[in-house]
Amino acid sequence: VLCWFYIFPVYRLPRDKDIVEEVLRQGDAWQKNQTGIDLYRKLLTDCCDPRRMFAVTKENSPMGKVLWYDGEFYHSRTVTNDTYPLFVQDNPLQLPLKRCAVVGNSGILRHSQCGHDIDQADFIMRCNLPPLSKEYVEDVGTRSHLVTANPSIIEKRFQNLLWSRKAFVDSMKAYGSSYIYMPAFSMKPGTEPSLRAYYALADASSNLTMLFANPDFLATVGKFWKARGVHARRLSTGLFLVSLALGLCEEVTAYGFWPFSVGLDERPVSHHYYDNILPYKWFHAMPEEFVQLWHLHKSGTLRMRLGHCP
Ligand code: CDP
Repeated sequence: VLCWFYIFPVYRLPRDKDIVEEVLRQGDAWQKNQTGIDLYRKLLTDCCDPRRMFAVTKENSPMGKVLWYDGEFYHSRTVTNDTYPLFVQDNPLQLPLKRCAVVGNSGILRHSQCGHDIDQADFIMRCNLPPLSKEYVEDVGTRSHLVTANPSIIEKRFQNLLWSRKAFVDSMKAYGSSYIYMPAFSMKPGTEPSLRAYYALADASSNLTMLFANPDFLATVGKFWKARGVHARRLSTGLFLVSLALGLCEEVTAYGFWPFSVGLDERPVSHHYYDNILPYKWFHAMPEEFVQLWHLHKSGTLRMRLGHCP
């Protein structure tokens, strides 16, 4: 059977309706493919060395090292004694991670009842400090181990942490003792808020551990996907996490990746499970990314959960 991968070259994206039909045709059928898993782990290790490079560490970023911002041209920051002491010694994760859940923020999670499924995973990654309040628990679960935080959230939600830090520290309690993964060296204006977030947590003796995303890792992962047809100015947070998971975990299940406006029941889907604020249009290429993820799903390399969880 010809599916839309073969009918449409990846640069001409299928319509939402075609995608819905394709996903429905596939149904719940999924078979793990260990060869595919091993291959992707090797490809990602060769290009991007996630084990060693995903975070800025004292090992990979010693004093005097120049960190080049990956989201901007020609900006760099040299590691000196104002930043070096903030870095973890080395990759703190107990590897290999076994069953990982990567949770995107799509509205497809709403009423999915996937919370229990997600919470069963050994290592749970979430994007952009998502709400885990009571009303969402059944759909997205409660546990997390690594949560990304974009500096823009610090600015928008927490007055850039220039005033009170209490609201920030309190709201971070939802993430237990997770790693907070911040791209502190992606865009120059993001560095200061990230350092403030580090100190806000440290000063409050928080259980959370701050990890700064390594800009070299973000850049190499970006190139990896560019070579595979993702033409975004910048990858979405979710695809970075899936890439990290494919490099570090034995099994990956992805939830909440659905950048389309209709669901499998042909009813409207909001952009996020908690709101319908759309992203800046040309910044990410989420539908292009979805095509890649769906391809990995069909080949048994990772599993995508799109409908209801059993
Ligand atoms: O900051 P960003 O726009 O990348 O992310 P977000 O809106 O907080 O959502 C987290 C991730 O979920 C995104 O990076 C996407 O990978 C994924 N997502 C999706 O696949 N479909 C949506 N409708 C929304 C998010």
